[in-house]
Amino acid sequence: MPNIVVVGVQWGDEGKGKVVDVITPHVDVVVRYQGGNNAGHTVVVGREKYVLHSIPSGILHPGRRCVVGCGVVVDPGSLIEEMEALVQRGVTLDGNLFISRNAHLIMPYHPALDRASEAKLGRRRIGTTGKGVGPAYVDKAARVGIRMADLLDERLFREKLELNIAQKNRLLRDIYDAQTFSVEEILNPYLRYAGWLAPYITDTALLLSRWIDSGYDVLFEGAQGTMLDIDHGTYPYITSSSTTAGGAATGTGVPPTRIHGVIGVSKAYTTRVGGGPFPTEMSGAVGEAIRTRGNEYGATTGRPRRCGWFDAIVARYAVRINGLDAVALTKLDVLDQCETVKVCVGYRHRGEVLTEFPEDETVMAEAEPVYEDVSGWLASTNGAQNLADLPAKARHYLDRLEELIGVPFCLVSTGAQRAETILIEDSPLTRWFPSVRTSLF
Ligand code: IMP
Repeated sequence: MPNIVVVGVQWGDEGKGKVVDVITPHVDVVVRYQGGNNAGHTVVVGREKYVLHSIPSGILHPGRRCVVGCGVVVDPGSLIEEMEALVQRGVTLDGNLFISRNAHLIMPYHPALDRASEAKLGRRRIGTTGKGVGPAYVDKAARVGIRMADLLDERLFREKLELNIAQKNRLLRDIYDAQTFSVEEILNPYLRYAGWLAPYITDTALLLSRWIDSGYDVLFEGAQGTMLDIDHGTYPYITSSSTTAGGAATGTGVPPTRIHGVIGVSKAYTTRVGGGPFPTEMSGAVGEAIRTRGNEYGATTGRPRRCGWFDAIVARYAVRINGLDAVALTKLDVLDQCETVKVCVGYRHRGEVLTEFPEDETVMAEAEPVYEDVSGWLASTNGAQNLADLPAKARHYLDRLEELIGVPFCLVSTGAQRAETILIEDSPLTRWFPSVRTSLF
């Protein structure tokens, strides 16, 4: 019975939603293990469009149990909005949605601190989503965070809130010259949220353990991507959680010994939102064309994404850090009109060519990409469902990427629709889920 993690290979927005959507019908449980409502994906089911930030998209598949694990930080107001939108469209949450008692809350002072800190950083700002995710994880590590279970105990919640308000108001007023908060203005709405959320708050680590004991399959849905991981990403231009496969264990309480495989999702090129080094970033008309063709605008903030060529150094690093068994490659069709497609095969730094990802932040910032040029295929791959249907040059591009990455592709996406997909026969994905083809065609 496979329990599988899906992670982003790059800086997020790789199209994990499509891959998760294809696998979900073949598992019993889908779990989010890190991040918060900084993530966002839009799922289209028939004529309905759903935007999900904190709830796993598995909720749109009837009967799938969805878990928000202890590693997630939850903005309860935003979560309830998502829940209400789902309920209005007939989605059943009761018995399908489970929220960890230990997940930390995003409090109103967290987005305020997030924005104030960004403003203070000036040109060194991270370019956060402004949702308060970083400051909520700061409180978690500082051991003053407020957790889901605290919402259910009014006396304890008030006590922790009072302590935090005293501390946060000093920070907001004295350091950031920003607006402060009163206990009452937070207490009342949060106690209302408690009433809404109470039926869903539970010991999810125990539930997951029992479900796995009884043979249920679990899909761990990563948010953001490897390069935004707090330990392994391009620090300090990262998000504040463990986005890589290891986070699936710590962020849920499911031990590594019960996880059987990891699929990485990567675009056929690269994008990044926010600040920080990005060696293969394209400037000018080519970058602009990719942004338009790929509709590269943030799902949460609407910000234009920075676009760049495929970076094999990053992809190989993601294989190593996550232990990837296979890669799902998305948005191949976005490159259809490129005369030449570039692939980064090394970083030039002070006269040396590096072929492993440099951990040192200054090296990454100064790295110049070493490119290999691949001849563009200048033909449509949109909607292709078989490798044999691709132009020879597009197949050559895929073969070269696979060779550089060192693990096989399990799926190549050639369009936004579910069926616009090439499923690779006899890959880890088809071995774990032999009937996965049925969810595509
Ligand atoms: P934060 O997660 O809001 O603190 O933002 C930190 C960095 O992560 C910024 O560069 C954001 O643009 C980036 N980030 C956070 N969530 C996502 C996502 O879902 N996709 C892409 N980038 C993200």
